[in-house]
Amino acid sequence: MYPEVRMRRLRNSPLVRKMVTEYELSPSNFILPLFVKEGLEDGTKAPISSMPGAFQHSISTLVEECAQAAELGIPGVILFGIPEHKDAEGSQAYDPDGIVPRAVRAIKAKLGDGLLVACDVCLCEYTDHGHCAPIEGDDIRNDQGVELYARAALEYARAGADIVAPSDMMDGRVGAIRQALDAEGFVDTLILAYAVKYASSFYGPFRDAAESGFHAGPKDRKTHQMDPANLSQAFREVEMDLAEGADIIMVKPAMPYLDVIKVLSTSYDVPMAAYQVSGEYAMLKAADEKGWLDGHKCLMESLLAIRRAGATMILTYYAKEAAEALR
Ligand code: PBG
Repeated sequence: MYPEVRMRRLRNSPLVRKMVTEYELSPSNFILPLFVKEGLEDGTKAPISSMPGAFQHSISTLVEECAQAAELGIPGVILFGIPEHKDAEGSQAYDPDGIVPRAVRAIKAKLGDGLLVACDVCLCEYTDHGHCAPIEGDDIRNDQGVELYARAALEYARAGADIVAPSDMMDGRVGAIRQALDAEGFVDTLILAYAVKYASSFYGPFRDAAESGFHAGPKDRKTHQMDPANLSQAFREVEMDLAEGADIIMVKPAMPYLDVIKVLSTSYDVPMAAYQVSGEYAMLKAADEKGWLDGHKCLMESLLAIRRAGATMILTYYAKEAAEALR
């Protein structure tokens, strides 16, 4: 007979459980996504109905939110801008006085090196049709988009952004952005590439928050974002972005794609980020409000699961709540 095997010995007391802990969460793992909207009266913020607890900010409330994040030990935020005027080319995305460059300057004036500022680089919040690049009929123009992302990324770097994060999934955009940045001496500006972004239905609430619904052209992003049915293309996406100069690789969404995070994090020695997206946030919030789940406990568990899958950094709307709980 074998000696009796008992897993219980490893779990029987709080200290033993602590001793054998493999993965832990820390506020330094989190990045807080924030929305800043042009034309909101300064000092005010507008609630987002499908994302209770998240807001569209004016610049002053945004800066306040950033100060709180820094205070909690969160190393960085990522900004999404909502312009007053949208057009076919998304020109407010690369206007030097657009809402995002103005917001970056305000945050940096207050917090300087105390907080990393990342800027999402995409046109979908800025185009009147809601697509990530200019369109011609149902065709989303990859190369035209790429040129415009490079211009936008450069404006954000000039405004003081530490990180630019192309989220469009057009081919060639990381290389174009790296070139544009380097040509002006922004060699230290990091590129966080949304390398493996799925054409997911979990972004619904974000499109309310960023006012980026579809008004012309195709009704989805399936021609440039990944098919949830696929994994092998994720490797090629990562390889392309790394070859073009990406510093950090991201998988998005997080919870339904833990397998993707796992396999990529064991295959590549680069910092990995995962985006716990708006739909993941909204589900936890809704179930919590209904009393069906303990939202806070499920949140901490889901963040730990994303870490266990191999992500170093987690973009989450819950960053402040989680950081507070870890204090
Ligand atoms: C594109 C972008 C999107 C998200 C982040 N950047 C939306 C999209 O691709 O449609 C989604 C984030 C979320 O759902 O929380 N600018």
